[in-house]
Formats: sequence, C-alpha cells, structure tokens
Amino acid sequence: MTTAPKQRPKYYDLNLAHLPVPGLVSIFHRISGALLFFPVIPAVLYLMQVTLGSEAGWLRWQAVFSQPAVKVVLLGFVWLYAHHFFAGIRYLLLDVHLGVAKEPARATAMLVFVLGAAATLLIGWRLW
Ligand code: HEM
Repeated sequence: MTTAPKQRPKYYDLNLAHLPVPGLVSIFHRISGALLFFPVIPAVLYLMQVTLGSEAGWLRWQAVFSQPAVKVVLLGFVWLYAHHFFAGIRYLLLDVHLGVAKEPARATAMLVFVLGAAATLLIGWRLW
C-alpha cells in the first residue's frame, strides 16, 4: 500500500458538475441573489405600477403572462427566489452552528434543492 499523498490538481476546478452539493447551493445562492436584485426587483416594481395603475395596463400584462413561454420564464424566476429563500434559511441556521458537520451540511444542501423544486412545481401547478 502506498503512503504517498493524494495528487491534487494545481488549478481551480471551475466545473460546476465537480462541486459538492453545498458548493452548488452556494454558487446558485449568489447568482440568485444578484438576479433578484437586478432585474427581478425593478421588473416587479414596474409591473405593480402598470397593473395597479389602470385596467388597460392590467389587461395588457394579463395577456402577456397567459402565454406558456412567459409562464416558463416566470417559473425560472420563481425557482431563483425559492432557492435563495431556502438556501438563505440554511445559511442562517449554519450561522447559529446548526447542521455544520459534513453529513448534515450535505443533507440540508440536498433539502434546499428539493424544497426549491417542490415550491416551483407547486406554483407552476397553480399558474397553469
Ligand atoms: C428579493 C429579495 C432578495 C434579494 C435581492 C437578495 C439578495 C442577496 C444577495 C445579493 C446576497 C449576497 C450573495 C453573495 O454575494 O453571496 C444575499 C445573501 C443572503 N441572503 Fe438574500 N436576497 C433576497 C431575499 C432573501 C431572503 C427572503 C432571505 C431569507 C431566507 C435571504 C437570505 C440571505 C442570506 C442569509 C444571505 C447571506 C448568505 C451568506 O452568508 O453567504 N435573502 N442576498
């Protein structure tokens, strides 16, 4: 049996498929946070202003959002928010030292993906 230390790559492995699940949660949490800040918040504020401002504005955007392709894009943003929300709760629990060990950290990372997908499916079901 060899006792030589395990060879490690001398470069950053940026392939997302090689990241452990907590790493994936983290990178998607950062991306979703940035996208929620822009363009989601400005878009939501604009839509609220237009749809609450007049009946014509409401009917125009209702027609836009009834198209299946638009609903699919909307569901993408719903997943972004759901992922950010559940991952955010996980980070808050980690901040108070809950689930810090390797196995629980891996399990809660998986749970974040499962809950994010479940919330998106539920809203998708209500949307259609
Ligand atoms: C539209 C609403 C939101 C926006 C625009 C937003 C945006 C962001 C951004 C840009 C970051 C920094 C990410 C990074 O650089 O790693 C962040 C971090 C964070 N967000 Fe949000 N967020 C929102 C909602 C929420 C909600 C509802 C929660 C509650 C669960 C939450 C929990 C967190 C936590 C805990 C962090 C820090 C994570 C860490 O320690 O690295 N966020 N958010």
